[in-house]
Parts: sequence; structure tokens; C-alpha cells
Amino acid sequence: ATESEEKDLVIIGGGVAGYVAAIKAGQEGLKVACIEKRGTLGGTCLNVGCIPSKSLLNNSHLYHQILHDSKHRGIEVGDVKLNLAQLMKAKEQSVSGLTKGVEFLLKKNGVEYIKGAGAFADEHTINVKLNDGGETSVKGKNILIATGSEVTPFPGLEIDEKRVISSTGAIALEKVPEKMLVIGGGIIGLEMASVWSRLGAQVTVIEFLDQIGGPGMDLEVAKSIQKILKKQGINFKTGTKVVSGDKTGETVKLEVDSAKGGKPETLEGDVVLVAIGRRPYTEGLGLENIGLEKDERGRVIIDSEYRTKIPHIRCVGDVTFGPMLAHKAEEEAVAVVEYIKKGYGHVNYGCIPSVMYTFPEVAWVGQSEQELKKAGVPYRVGTFPFSANSRAKTNLDTEGMVKMIADPETDRILGVHIIGPNAGEMIAEGTLALEYGASSEDIARTCHAHPTLAEAFKEAAMATHSKAIHF
Ligand code: FAD
Ligand code: NAI
Repeated sequence: ATESEEKDLVIIGGGVAGYVAAIKAGQEGLKVACIEKRGTLGGTCLNVGCIPSKSLLNNSHLYHQILHDSKHRGIEVGDVKLNLAQLMKAKEQSVSGLTKGVEFLLKKNGVEYIKGAGAFADEHTINVKLNDGGETSVKGKNILIATGSEVTPFPGLEIDEKRVISSTGAIALEKVPEKMLVIGGGIIGLEMASVWSRLGAQVTVIEFLDQIGGPGMDLEVAKSIQKILKKQGINFKTGTKVVSGDKTGETVKLEVDSAKGGKPETLEGDVVLVAIGRRPYTEGLGLENIGLEKDERGRVIIDSEYRTKIPHIRCVGDVTFGPMLAHKAEEEAVAVVEYIKKGYGHVNYGCIPSVMYTFPEVAWVGQSEQELKKAGVPYRVGTFPFSANSRAKTNLDTEGMVKMIADPETDRILGVHIIGPNAGEMIAEGTLALEYGASSEDIARTCHAHPTLAEAFKEAAMATHSKAIHF
């Protein structure tokens, strides 16, 4: 049951892209409807992605730290037990609190929330199969496609979310597997490997490339975090391709091959996590009804103002170009509403941070050394290790470093790469510096509070510009 009047904006998908666009459009005084079929708002990120994975990462880290990293701090604990059901409950509480919060925000901003699956009937009309049964339709002067992404399946190894799992199964396992194999050493693979290894599983990550971390991670950083994670107990097989899988037996078997043509091998696990990337999701959306095109990777094709070839139909988030990140989707959502309302908007794609929430965290923004080398751009590097930072030493968490890359002539920052306990928060400082076109000297001459981990960021800038004081 929806209002029959035409909306200024109809949004298909209530994920981060869709719900942020809905709130922003409401704030701008537009009449908005947001269609979401999941039953809750927030999309992949809030329901089965960013939020539940970070809950498990945080609490599994605490558990692991209490077990293995407390005695030398002067804390002796008795009988430490894992209560996996409670760990999952805590995760569910975070998720439901946040998804309900988003629903409240839509209401507060006058957005009509339609629970159901939307499909194009024509260029201005979306038919909706309501979750509660029945159908309705809604018309929009503008329409925004924000249908997100889904896991890329591994051919021949059907995901059942029990023994062969995607990230969705990996955040909901009912018991800790004895042996877990992870196909893909990207961000999902490494975050989930961390969670289950900390909780007691024997985890092996199989990565096709010679470096872990997925696209964009600086090679030096990738090598360093691999060493750290290996020390924590995660096994790695890099330069190794999973060729096929078989789940008919007691255990799930993977045939792996050296990417460089070594001898094939069979690996076995109780559980196999498929983490080889995600792909755009447009199933049942009826793009064919209006002749909208996708590229060879299934992404909805848009121009620089997020317009499809039908100009009043726009598209943002995971379902189109760019990194599949929640904050990228959010930036685009605000910009697309600004385009609709005012005719201009902006996202700086050179300045989108990435964070991997392992312990220590890995975070970066801007370009890596390899990217600069490949592009033939000259650069200068300054690094500062956390082992020389007073706060890191005080906290007994000294692994990692800050690496800064700057233009050798103008000193303008080109990239920041951090491994450290607080890298995900610290990268905001690097992002701000990059966005404002700061030089390493600008940062080196900015007073940072003592004793903080952020001083490592300042000292890396000092090392880039001239010399660090404490190293
Ligand atoms: P989605 O969040 O996928 O939302 C799309 C929504 O549209 C879905 O809810 C879907 O049900 C709905 N929909 C689709 N088709 C229809 C239809 N026809 N009708 C109605 N509704 C429809 N990113 C980060 O930045 N940081 C992280 O820490 C992070 N962690 C992640 C961890 C995991 C395990 C995963 C899988 C992803 C993670 N991501 C993270 C990525 C992040 O979740 C996505 O980039 C983000 O959710 C993209 O937002 P979106 O709105 O474009 O798509
Ligand atoms: P990914 O693209 O980051 O990594 C996939 C990895 O699998 C690559 O390194 C690839 O070389 C490897 N691979 C592919 N086929 C293989 C095979 N047959 N054998 C061995 N290795 C193989 O994808 P991932 O980790 O699934 O993540 C998907 C998306 O989700 C990412 O794009 C990321 O942006 C987003 N995400 C972001 C998070 C964050 O910001 N903290 C957390 C989790 C997900």
C-alpha cells in the first residue's frame, strides 16, 4: 500500500547507497520512496557485511588477547571459555540496533519505505512484489538503482552456507571448525581467517597472487601483514590457484595448483570459505524491460554524473564502477542527490581510504609504490615503525609502521599506508591530508598530542620531508 502520487525520487535498494541517498533526498525536500526486499535496511554492509564482521573481529580479538596476550601485562585469568552463541548474539544486537536506527532516520526524513522487490515496468514505473504478499507500483521523476552486489561463486562448488560458505555463512557458523580453508586472500578472506583462527580453527588461506590483501594494498605492507598473520597462526599458500572443489565426502576437498606450474595438491577442510570477490547484483530488476546495459563484469553503465543512458535513471554503489566499499557508496549517494537537486556533485575517487580490520589493522589511501612505479611517477618514501612510538611501546602493541609517499619535487602527499593497532582511525588523517593537497612538511610541522599512536604518522611525515626524531 503506497501513495499513488509520483515521487521526485524512487530508490531501488536500501543498502548504504540507497538509504543514504534516501535520507539526503528527504533533507533536500524531495518526495522519496525507497524499495528494499531484505526486510531490513542497511543492505550487505549492516546486515551481513561491515557491521557483523567487525563485531566478530572485535570480540574474537578480545578473546584471543585474554588467552594469549594478558599474562605478561600482569593480568592472570582463570578458566577462559568461548561462548560462541553469545558472541553471535552480541553481533546480532549491533546489527539490529543499527538497521532499526536507519529505519527511524528514513521516517524522520519523510521517506516512504516500501518493503518488497522492485522491477522496472517502464522508464518511470517500478513494480514492487511486496514482502507481505501482493503487488504495488510506484512512479518516479528520477529513479536510482542501488541494488548492490553478491558473492562471486566458485564454479563447481555450490555454496550451502554450512560446509561451503560465503562471508554470510562465515559470520554465522554455529561451531568453530577444526580445519578451515579459505579461497582468496583478499579482505574478506583475511578478516574471516582472523576471526576463526582466533577462536581456535586451523586456517589455511589459498591465494592465487604472490601477495595477499586484494587489489590496492602496497606490496611492502602486504608482505609485512602476511608475516604478522602467519605468526598469529594463519597458514598461507600464495601463488596457488584453487582449480576445483569437491564436497561429496566427509571433508571438503580442494585441488590446488601452483600458479607458476608446480605440482598439484589436494587440501581438505571441514569448512571452505569462498572469498574470491563480489559481483554486481541486478537479478529480477527488469533492466531488459527498459534496455539498460551492463558491462562485461555486470556493472550498470553510467556517466560521470551517475546517469545511465536514460538520464533520469541513475546508479550508485557496488552495482556500478569503483571499489566495493560502504563509504564510497555513501559519498556517491550524497553526490547523486546533489546532481538531481542542484545539477552538481562531487566524489574524489583518488581519495577513498581502504581498511582491513585484522589485528593490527591495515589501512591506506592514495597510491601504492607499485602503482606509482608502473605509472612512471617519481616519488619519495618515509617510514616510521610503531616499535619507536612511545604509546605503542606503552601499550605493548608495537607491530607495524606508517609509510608515507610524496612527490620528490613538490612534497605533495601521494599515498599513505599504515599497519598498526589503530590504522583504520589514523588513516582519516592521511585522507584529510590528501584531500587538502598537503605536503609531508605540512604534517611534519603539525603538532600531535603525546603520547599517541598518531605521532607515528607525524614522524613518518618528518621522515619523508627530512628526518624523524625518534628513529
Ligand atoms: P548493498 O549494501 O548490497 O545494498 C543493496 C540492497 O539492495 C540490498 O539490501 C538488497 O537486498 C537490495 N536490493 C537488490 N535488488 C533489489 C530489488 N530489485 N528490489 C529491492 N531491493 C533490492 N565495506 C566497507 O567499506 N567496510 C567494511 O568493513 C566492509 N566489510 C564488509 C564485509 C563483508 C563480509 C562484505 C560482504 C562486505 C563488506 N564491505 C565493507 C562492503 C560493503 O558491504 C558494500 O560496499 C556496501 O554494502 C555497498 O552498498 P550498496 O548499497 O551499494 O549495496
Ligand atoms: P577481493 O577481490 O578483495 O579478493 C579476492 C582474492 O581472491 C584476490 O586476491 C584473488 O587473487 C583471489 N582469488 C580469486 N580466484 C582465486 C582462486 N581460484 N584461487 C585462489 N585465489 C583466488 O575480494 P573479497 O575478499 O571477496 O572481497 C570482496 C569485496 O568486499 C572487496 O572488493 C572489498 O572491497 C569488500 N570488503 C571490504 C572490507 C573492508 O573494507 N574492510 C571487508 C570485506 C569486504
